Amino acid sequence: MKNDQPTILIIIGISGDLSKRKLLPAIGQIAMTGMIPSNFRIIGVTRQSDINLENLLKHTVNKDYLLKSTEMFEMNLLREEDYRKLRIRLEEIEREFGTSAQYLFYLSVPPNTSKSIIEFLGKEGFAEKDNTKLLLEKPFGINLESATELVEHIDKYFKREQIYRIDHYLAKETAQNIIVFREGNSLFKKTWNKDFIDKIEIVVSEEIGIEGRANFYEQTGALRDLIQSHLLQLLALTLMDIPEEGHIEEVPNLRYEALRQISIPSVPSLSAHVKRGQYHGYREEVQNPHSMVETFASIDLVSSDPKWQGVKINLTTGKALKDKFTEIKILYRKDNDRESNELLLRLQPDEGISFSVWAKRPGYEHQVSRHALNFSFKDHYTALPEAYEQVLFNAINGDHSLFSTSEEVIETWRILDGLQKAWSTSTYDLIIYKKGSTVEEIKN
Ligand code: BG6
Repeated sequence: MKNDQPTILIIIGISGDLSKRKLLPAIGQIAMTGMIPSNFRIIGVTRQSDINLENLLKHTVNKDYLLKSTEMFEMNLLREEDYRKLRIRLEEIEREFGTSAQYLFYLSVPPNTSKSIIEFLGKEGFAEKDNTKLLLEKPFGINLESATELVEHIDKYFKREQIYRIDHYLAKETAQNIIVFREGNSLFKKTWNKDFIDKIEIVVSEEIGIEGRANFYEQTGALRDLIQSHLLQLLALTLMDIPEEGHIEEVPNLRYEALRQISIPSVPSLSAHVKRGQYHGYREEVQNPHSMVETFASIDLVSSDPKWQGVKINLTTGKALKDKFTEIKILYRKDNDRESNELLLRLQPDEGISFSVWAKRPGYEHQVSRHALNFSFKDHYTALPEAYEQVLFNAINGDHSLFSTSEEVIETWRILDGLQKAWSTSTYDLIIYKKGSTVEEIKN
């Protein structure tokens, strides 16, 4: 339901790629569906004085609405008095609205600058206004230690309920469908445990490489960029307990409880359960001939939750691969070779679900074959909303269920801590793969 609370969205870093490609188009789209508050304003914070708003709106629908609702605000993010000027401008807008508004600060800036911005915002007193919200983009730290420190830093200035940590995968329609699917189909609900499931494989395969983000990627790598965030969140949605009906607000805590029980097995050795790779040509692209940064990562995991003990889990992701797809594959236990079933939750593209069953082949002899029962969203719905529409809509409405909490973030780094340390000291285990390889080609 629409929340009609007057709202000012302050995008810090409006000239960046995320804002152009995702945030502004998402607002345009939400406004088009009539779900944006009647009093709504975007303040585009930028350091540059020559930013042309029209240029930022190249990829958007509903340009007229965005042009009339957006104003640029030039400021130096390292100067305290500029935050005061910003506050004065926001108060002026509230006077124009004739009522107080909620402030949504969206930090679309490099991670090394967000710490000081949070401090300046806190010191300027924004956090004391109850309906101020802080929307943060990943990465949240680079390891367990820095993430813990970042959480403590933010806690000094903002209350936890004011924080919205974005993991856009949680907001994808098909990720949200995982809970609905598990809850709404009693056949799967009753068999969603170790007695029936043998293995869970989650893959995010990307065709694109690092897209010119050499600096960012050299400090990140596939483990931090996708496994720590998107893939572990998808796994949490797969393993967690289902919330009681109507209690969607319990979801972040349930995801956290699932994450707490996950670890990378260390028997016979950690290295037996992990693989890293780098696509050929990466080192030239980042101009670092010795780079050990992985563009491909595959890790096995286990859960100590009694419902999941013994189930094999694998998360894999890579860039510059043959295809772009994200899927969760659930492999059911076999009674004999023929009786195994596979459930495939396809998150993108061709969003949908398929389930493989065995059927008799027509003919005089008794032969059976595997067939897929298939459901595709596109056969029934014309378009699925973009994840960033959902992110912004939920933040405006104060719904935390699609955002990751501080506790979850720390857990995900805890899961990867030993591996990060091992990879930072070893050099012998990096597989160099050809661009356009498949996941199986690299893994085997
Ligand atoms: C981002 C990563 O979080 O997710 C990118 O930083 C990655 O490296 C992107 O390409 C993938 O998102 P999507 O929605 O295109 O699957």
